[in-house]
Parts: sequence; structure tokens; C-alpha cells
Amino acid sequence: MEEMDFEDRIVSSSEIAEDTLGNDNPLRPKTLDEYIGQEKVKENLKVFIEAAKKRGEILDHVLLYGPPGLGKTTLSQIIANELNVNIRITSGPAIEKPGDLAALLTNLSSGDVLFIDEIHRISRAVEEVLYPSMEDFAIDIITGKGQMAASYHLPLPKFTLVGATTRAGQLTAPLRDRFGVVLRLELYTPEELAEIVRRSAGILNIPIDMDGSLEIASRSRGTPRIANRLLKRVRDFAEVMGNGSITCDIARIALDKLEIDELGLDANDRRMLEAIIRFYNGGPVGIETLAAAIGEEAVTIEDVYEPYLMQIGFLSRTPRGRCVTFAACQHLDIAPPNGVMPGSPTLFDGEK
Ligand code: ADE
Repeated sequence: MEEMDFEDRIVSSSEIAEDTLGNDNPLRPKTLDEYIGQEKVKENLKVFIEAAKKRGEILDHVLLYGPPGLGKTTLSQIIANELNVNIRITSGPAIEKPGDLAALLTNLSSGDVLFIDEIHRISRAVEEVLYPSMEDFAIDIITGKGQMAASYHLPLPKFTLVGATTRAGQLTAPLRDRFGVVLRLELYTPEELAEIVRRSAGILNIPIDMDGSLEIASRSRGTPRIANRLLKRVRDFAEVMGNGSITCDIARIALDKLEIDELGLDANDRRMLEAIIRFYNGGPVGIETLAAAIGEEAVTIEDVYEPYLMQIGFLSRTPRGRCVTFAACQHLDIAPPNGVMPGSPTLFDGEK
């Protein structure tokens, strides 16, 4: 089978240039009230933001974690907006040296939000500077070497760090402990995604009915970024093959042409499930073994493929490895291997 990079897929949850429609993405909600879904996260954030504003204090540092494409950057912008402060956006890999972080921090104004995406990827050296700056709002800078060495204690403006990661488990404990607010984003339900699709269609002036939006939503793998991308592609079909309106039928035809099945699985998801069934008898198979078998990185499997496959009950993580479920075999129309019975893998379910 032809290799295909996940980043090239229309159902990739990574951000691509087209998603943002320029710098000021009109689809991005600007307030918590405009933001659809993640009800628990929103509820808590509202309280923390209001409390901080009432006390005239800065908001505690916030850690957002969960699968890619669920709106971590959007939420950080909303946090800054609701606090009426500025935001600086950067990412773990972009902060190469402690000096880069020092430059970012010293340029903030009091109360500003510093958003660090992929915060699990910052280097140890940068992390060492991040701790004291989060805790004491100061950094110690050492200049020169040997006898010429001098240390300066540099106070910083108070700021709120919003960190985002797909892998909270990869943060060091001391870093994790410095976030006062830790929020987990969940995959969206089809109903929530349908609401997002309708909102986006409204902003983009695309006529769409309820069934059309639900059809796109249910094939978007729980991810708004994918839903908005599919909406734009389905619009193309609606304009060329129909009268421009998106109905359930048009959405179905378009998504079938895009080879995204009724549950949002594409060729790569199916390839992974089929590999577990055919090569490993349905599992359990270790993540590294599976990664080698399908030519993907283990982290991609864990962050990108698995969350959705687990949510729809097609895959389970057990202490002994990954197992496909009876429902997955049925969906793929493959006879379940011996041992894959309705409900069986959950017997071993250790972690989620
Ligand atoms: N666009 C992308 N994510 C969204 C969300 N959670 N709510 C509203 N619009 C969105």
C-alpha cells in the first residue's frame, strides 16, 4: 500500500496554513461564550478568570492538554481576550536557548499571557529558567566566565503562562506542579461538532442544513479543525455538483469521494486496525511493534490515531498492548480473530 504522511491527509489534526485563513482566522471564537463544547473546561475557566479579575490579580498558570486540533491555541487567545491582556504565542521547540525565553519574558507587560505550544518539547536548559520565572517572576542571568562571571537577578513583569501539550505525561513533575490550573480537553461529540460546522458555515456564508452539518460532524474524528476543513472541501462539491447548498446527500457524496468513511476513518486508520487484526490476531500488540509494522512513529499513533479510535470503541489500550475490538472488525467487515469477542479486550483495560 502506498505510504502517506499523516500531515498530508485531509483528516490530519495538525494545523496547516489553509486552516487559519490568514492571521486573523475568522472561524476562531474570541470569547468563552462563542466557544462551543468543552463545557467543563469552560465552566472552570470562567470562574478562575472572573476570580482573578475581581481580585485584581493575574491568572494562575494554565496547562491545557489533550489530542491535537481541539482548540488549545484558540482557548489561550480567549483567555487573554477575557482577561483584557495581550498574548505572545510561541512553542517549545522555538525557544532554543535560555536567552530566547529571557527575551520573551522581559518583553511582556504586566498581566500578559505567554502561550507556549508543545511545552513538553522545551529543552532542559530552558526549563531551568522557566521554573523561577513562573514561581518568582524573576530570572537569574549569568554573564561572563570564570573570574569575570557575574550573576544578575532580573525581576520580570507578572504574567500568566498558558502551556499546551498533547502529552501531559511527558512533562517533568516540577514543571507540571507549577501550573495552578490544569485542564484536559476532550474530543468533541458529533452534536458539538455539528454546531461548530453550522457556526463556521454561517461565518463563511455557506448554506447548510442540519443533516448536512451532522454528516460532516460525524466524520470529523471529534476534532473541530478537521470539521472546518471538511466543511470547506464539501462546499467545493456543493458548488460544482449542486447549487452551493450543503445537504446530507451532498456531504455524503463529497466525503465518500474524499475516502473518509461514515465514522471519519481514512485509509491510514483502517490500515492500522487491519494490521493489528491480520498480523497480530487482533492484539495485544506493543505500540513500538505496531509502529514498525505500519511505518509510523509511536507518538503519532498515540496522539493522533488512538484517541479517536478509542473514543469510538475500536481500539483498547491494555497493559499487554493494543487490541482491536469486535466492533472494529465488524466495521471493517473482517471476520474477528479468535479471542476478539464482543466486549473482550476491556477485561484487560488498565489505562485509558
Ligand atoms: N472553531 C474551532 N473550534 C471551535 C469551538 N470549540 N467553538 C466554536 N468554534 C470553533
